[in-house]
Parts: sequence; C-alpha cells; structure tokens
Amino acid sequence: MSDIERIGVIGGGLMGSGIIEVAARAGLDVIGIEINADAAKAAAERVEGSLRRAESRGKIDASEVASVLGRMRFETDLEALADRDLVVEAASEDERTKLDIFAKVGSILTSEDAILVSNTSSIPIVKLGAVSGRADRVMGVHFFNPAPVMQLVELIPSLTTSPKTLDRMRTWVEQSLAKQPIDATDRAGFVVNSLLVPYLLSAIRMYEAGYASAEDIDRGMVLGCGHPMGPLALSDLIGLDTIQAIGHSMYSEFKEPLYSPPPLLGRMVDAGLLGKKSGHGFYPYEGK
Ligand code: 3HC
Repeated sequence: MSDIERIGVIGGGLMGSGIIEVAARAGLDVIGIEINADAAKAAAERVEGSLRRAESRGKIDASEVASVLGRMRFETDLEALADRDLVVEAASEDERTKLDIFAKVGSILTSEDAILVSNTSSIPIVKLGAVSGRADRVMGVHFFNPAPVMQLVELIPSLTTSPKTLDRMRTWVEQSLAKQPIDATDRAGFVVNSLLVPYLLSAIRMYEAGYASAEDIDRGMVLGCGHPMGPLALSDLIGLDTIQAIGHSMYSEFKEPLYSPPPLLGRMVDAGLLGKKSGHGFYPYEGK
C-alpha cells in the first residue's frame, strides 16, 4: 500500500484542480497552493463545482462531497507544504516558474523521504531535480485532462531519480489513485504529447490554411476515426496557451518543424482566446 498520506498540489488551474479532486477523493489530506487569495478561491470553487456535478449525476453522494471537501484546504504560502509526503507541481508550463518552485519547495519539505514531482508535459525533469537539492526524489508524474476522468498517468524518472522514488510513485498512482501508469523517458512530450501535439498543431495549420471549417475538421476525426472529440475542440479543452508552450518546448528540444506552433495559435493566445477556460477558442463557450 502507498505510504503517501499528505499531499500538496501547487497550482489550482485546470490540471491542478483536477489532481486535487482526484487525491482528495482517494482519501488523502490535500493542500492546494495558489498565488493569491482570489486564485485560491477560484481553485476551491473549481473543485467544488466538479464535485457537485458528480453529485448531480449520482456518482457521489452529498456526505461524500462534504468529506472530500473536508480533506482539502487552500493556501498561498509554499511554507504550508513543509509536512507533506508528496508535492505535485502543476503550475503553468513555464520553465523559469517551475525551476523557482522546485528550488524553494525542495528546501521547505522537512521529511527526508518527501517526494517532489512535476505535472509538466515537456520541461526537462532533470533540470527540476537539479535545483531542488533532492534530485533522487524528483520525477515527472503527468496527468491528463480532465484528470478525474482520464485513467492514464505517465511516470517519468530523470537520470537522477532513484528506483525507490519511481516505485513509490507507481504504487501511489496504481493503489491510491486507482489510475494506470505508463513509463516514459525524460524527453519533451514524453509518450502521449509526442504523438498528440503534432496532431493538434497539424489540425490548427489545416484550419489556418482554409482546408475546411473547424466543425468539419473535428467531425472528420470524431466520425471518421472514433475519437471522443475532434482536434480543435480538444485544443480548446487543453488550453491554447498550454499547447503553444508544449509546442515551443518540444520544438526547442528536437527542432522538428511539426512541433513548431503555427502563427494562428500565437495570434489566438495573444488575443486571449485560450479555449474553454477563457470562454472562447476555436469555438465559443461563454455561458456554458
Ligand atoms: N471533471 C470530471 N468529470 C468529467 C469532466 C470533468 N471536467 N468532464 C467530463 N466528465 C465526466 C462526466 O461526468 C461523465 O461521467 P459519467 O459518464 O460517469 O456520467 C463523463 O466524463 C463523460 O462526460 P460527458 O458525457 O459530459 O461528455 P463526453 O462523453 O463528451 O466526454 C470527455 C467528455 C471525457 C472530455 C471526452 O470528450 C474525452 O475523453 N475527450 C478527450 C480528452 C482527452 O483527450 N484528454 C487528454 C488531453 S491531453 C492532456 O491532458 C495532456 C496535457 O499535457 C496537454
């Protein structure tokens, strides 16, 4: 059985709030960290909203919602993470932000055994370990959106991660979270995004070049290939800023043109059209 009981999640955005929900529903004591009180309130509301949706669909009852909410709290100071067995960093996909967090949290954790992981999709895990002062207890643990629904978790040890850390994270993912891990190596994109991101970027390029409407590109992949949603709707779900950041990291590592974000994606991000989370991307979501 996993020995992880107290966890911290840094970042309460789309992925962070999903991970907080998954961990609290698994019975763990969870602290979510956000940058200020407003962001912490928004993250708490996001998790509660998701739990209430699950309740309205009969997947969880009201008393269970109350006990899940009772197992989580939100803070704005990283020092609150001192007693955690595990901290999952799910901040924005920006290398400098993540390096800063790993340097700080590495020295805040008091237990020698505490593990610090990143939910990054593309930033080198080895660099995060190097600044943390506990490189053997740092690795990538990558969830998929929406985290409460998606079964997969990628496990990414770096060159400096110890076998014991990898074993403990595998046990945590399989036994505490009841999710299914696959093993990946520390290369930008790991397994899934290395395949998914060039596909999404190709769909954006296709739309940009006027091959077909957004609706028809998406219907093509849903009806023709059985995907649950088309590539432009999926880009909106993931967040266009996130896809742009992953594309940049993958391109800077491999110099593969297919990983390079097309101009339209950059223009949409500059315009604040980030997808579902901002209310508009390839499709409108206002009021939904
Ligand atoms: N939180 C919790 N539960 C959710 C949810 C959310 N945000 N969104 C949907 N669900 C649940 C619903 O409650 C429902 O559960 P039920 O069937 O038990 O009642 C189930 O998921 C299906 O939801 P809906 O009926 O509302 O909608 P769909 O059938 O259209 O499914 C979807 C929605 C699960 C998002 C589905 O379209 C899907 O699987 N899409 C693909 C998602 C995907 O590819 N994700 C990976 C992105 S890549 C990534 O995250 C990596 C990163 O690094 C970029």
